[in-house]
Amino acid sequence: MKNWRVDPAGQVAGRVRVPGDKSISHRSVMLGGIAEGRTEVTGFLAGADCLATLSAFQKMGVPVDRLDETSLVVHGRGLHGLGAPSEVLDMGNAGTAIRLSMGLLSGQRFETTLTGDASLRSRPMERVAAPLRQMGARIDTTDGKPPVTVRPAGRLQGIDYPLPMASAQVKSAILLAGLYAEGRTAVTEPAPTRDHTERMLRGFGVEVQTDGATASLVGGQKLQGTRIAVPGDISSAAFFLVAGCLAGADGFVVENVGINPTRTGILDILKLMGADLTIHERAAQGGEPVADIELRRSSLKGIAVPPELVPLAIDELPVLFIAAAGAEGETLFTGAAELRVKESDRLAVMAEGLTRVGVPNELRPDGIRIEGGHRLRAATIDSHSDHRIAMSFAVASLLADAPLTIRDVENVATSFPGFTATAGAAGLHIADA
Ligand code: S3P
Repeated sequence: MKNWRVDPAGQVAGRVRVPGDKSISHRSVMLGGIAEGRTEVTGFLAGADCLATLSAFQKMGVPVDRLDETSLVVHGRGLHGLGAPSEVLDMGNAGTAIRLSMGLLSGQRFETTLTGDASLRSRPMERVAAPLRQMGARIDTTDGKPPVTVRPAGRLQGIDYPLPMASAQVKSAILLAGLYAEGRTAVTEPAPTRDHTERMLRGFGVEVQTDGATASLVGGQKLQGTRIAVPGDISSAAFFLVAGCLAGADGFVVENVGINPTRTGILDILKLMGADLTIHERAAQGGEPVADIELRRSSLKGIAVPPELVPLAIDELPVLFIAAAGAEGETLFTGAAELRVKESDRLAVMAEGLTRVGVPNELRPDGIRIEGGHRLRAATIDSHSDHRIAMSFAVASLLADAPLTIRDVENVATSFPGFTATAGAAGLHIADA
């Protein structure tokens, strides 16, 4: 098992660049694969999650040229051009890969079985399978979890589906199945979630309507190959955004961050906590707004986090809990029950880690209350093989006077290859242990 020893650090400085957006990278391969002609992708996240998607689509007959680590050409096979893979498709740790693929594969004329690692095999898939079955898809899950088998089903029917939870993965799976359905497929969400699928489909020439909380499209539309410049992932930038608020030297900047408004809950939450941050907007890339974000050491204060911001910061909450630990007073997070079904039960795992480092907290069914303002004590923290838990506690070293050991950090490579080098250049002290 791979572990880290993280020694206390006093500041972060310089200019940091994070790898490409995970959500956009997955979608670039999936949509590129069912488009007509070439799709050129730059800034692709060559992390294990997106490489699992890439390998799955190659196994379904999509040729991909890797020009360099982060540049690809996907040679699209058209809406009906994918072929049966000769093996079970292993999506590794990637919820986005398996759930969006379930939608896309519902409309194919061949059978596919999808699985993943132990974490993915414990995550709920009926939230996607049930609405897809309403469209006519034939899907078997294993007690609601992977492995999942998607069988050929003939023509799907469009549906009008109110999402029971705020999930971009479920919304996206239904819209992708909708490309293969008769008539209009509409999804209405209870709160806004990331809209990369809608934006990227438009980039491929598909007409997608957005009307308030409802996104819809008419089936049978063809995708035309395009160019996609993937911006830096705000979910990876998040570790440095919080680090900058806790201990940023003058001139600390996180460059080239995607600031799609359905992803910027972290910026709003940090600002409410008193963060001194400046957004320098750059030219948009591939239909997505992008900025350099400048941070200064700030006196953060505890707040009650508005629950409507939670879905807009869902992947950033673990590191926001570290910001709360460094803030004066109490911070209360509510409306975050979805965190319990991520790569780990992120509420429980973060509460356990915070307790170990001596941060008083109270775990709730849908959130956590964190008492900030304490220096952290030496401790061993189990990341439960969750990449974002591991990186969050690396940032916590800015609040510590003694070393932290973080266990089971292998999966950091799913979303942030090169994290230790980038964090080290900024001023954190992370070593293999
Ligand atoms: C994602 C949606 C979110 C997020 C995940 C990526 C996506 O999941 O947590 O990391 O790319 O659509 P949910 O849809 O389960 O909230």
